[in-house]
Amino acid sequence: MEDAERPPSRTILPADHDTRSLYFLLNSIVVPRPIAWVSSRAQDGTQNLAPHSYFTVAATDPPTISFTSIGDKDTVRNVRDTGEFVVHVVGNDLVERMNATSASAPADVSEFSLAGVTPVDADLVDAAIVAEAPVAIECALDRIVEVGNSFMVLGRCVAFHVAERLWDERDRIDPARLDAVARMGGSTYARTRDRFDLARPSYEELLDGGVTPAV
Ligand SMILES: Cc1cc2nc3c(=O)[nH]c(=O)nc-3n(C[C@H](O)[C@H](O)[C@H](O)COP(=O)(O)O)c2cc1C
Repeated sequence: MEDAERPPSRTILPADHDTRSLYFLLNSIVVPRPIAWVSSRAQDGTQNLAPHSYFTVAATDPPTISFTSIGDKDTVRNVRDTGEFVVHVVGNDLVERMNATSASAPADVSEFSLAGVTPVDADLVDAAIVAEAPVAIECALDRIVEVGNSFMVLGRCVAFHVAERLWDERDRIDPARLDAVARMGGSTYARTRDRFDLARPSYEELLDGGVTPAV
C-alpha cells in the first residue's frame, strides 16, 4: 500500500455514541435512499400504509426486495401475521401523501384515509394497492431477519404492476415519467431529475485509457 495520508476527517466510533446520533449519521451518509411505500393488512382487516427508505433489491432471481423497520411496528407485525404486503414506488406527485402516512396513527386507523389515497385489491396478496402509485409490487414474505433494534423484511415479488404511462416507445420504463423521489438525511428529499449515463468499462478499456494496475 502507498504511504499516502488520509485527508482530515472525523472518526466516529459507534461505541461512543447513542442510538439516536447513529441513526442520524447513517441517514445522512447512506443517501439517496429510495422509498418503499409499504401496504399491509392487520388481522382485524385494517389497511396499513407506511414509508420505509431502508429499501433495496435483495435478489434478482427469484426477484426479492427488502425493507427494514427500525423497531417492531405495525407494518412488521402485519407482514409477520399475514405473510403478504405490497411495496409502491413514490413519484414526486405523491410525496406529501406518502409523508402523511408516516404519522404514528393508532393501529386501527388506516393511513389510506389519512393520506387520501385509494385502496384497490391486489391480484395475489391480501394487502391493498395504492391506486395512485406508479408502481406496485405484490410480495410474499420470504423471511424477517432481526438485526439489532431492527427487522429486515425480505419479500419475494409475485407481481409487478407498472402504470401504462411509464413505458416508452422501446418498452422500457422511462425514469422521467416515474419521477421517483428519494430520502436524504433529516427531512430532506431528492428528486431524480438530474440524470446522466455512464457506461461500465471493461478491464481492457481501462488499460487503453492509461490505467496502470499495481501488481
Ligand atoms: C420518507 C420516510 C422514510 C421512512 N423510512 C423508514 C424506514 O426505513 N424504517 C422505519 O422503521 N421507519 C421509517 N420511517 C418512519 C415510518 O414510516 C413511521 O415510523 C411509520 O409510522 C411506521 O408505520 P407502521 O407503524 O404502520 O409500520 C420513514 C418515514 C418517512 C417519512
